[in-house]
Amino acid sequence: MKFDREARTRAVALTMGDPDLGRYLAQRYGCAGCHTIPGVPGAQGKVGPTLQGFAARVYIGGVATNSPDSLIQWIENPRTIDPKTAMPATGISRAEARHVAAYLYTLR
Ligand code: HEC
Repeated sequence: MKFDREARTRAVALTMGDPDLGRYLAQRYGCAGCHTIPGVPGAQGKVGPTLQGFAARVYIGGVATNSPDSLIQWIENPRTIDPKTAMPATGISRAEARHVAAYLYTLR
């Protein structure tokens, strides 16, 4: 998939992550099983909200303001932000979460 170049530059600047690697990791860590994620093959999950347009989302999980730091923390371990969230930790590392965050910020 080709990214919108501007969205990509912005996502990299926000996170210092690699969106291409992030797209791959989103599949590998099972994000795709629970979420619909444009550009990730087979990501049609309906357990969690769609991540389409995520760059423009104001809140993460309805509780934290959507910022790069909060997003990386959420992806690594959502219950450190909202103890009651249904989203589990997937075992993804913080370094890997940064790349996934970079990918999610390309989604407008
Ligand atoms: C077992 C299912 C499940 C898995 C696996 C999962 N999630 Fe989630 N995710 C959810 C649910 C349910 C929510 C809604 C949580 C809430 O609002 O408290 C959510 C919320 C989110 C949100 C916030 C969306 C928003 O609009 O507020 C993001 C971002 C997210 N997940 C990313 C990921 C990523 C990246 C992965 C893989 C590392 C992942 N999720 C794995 C179920 C899952």
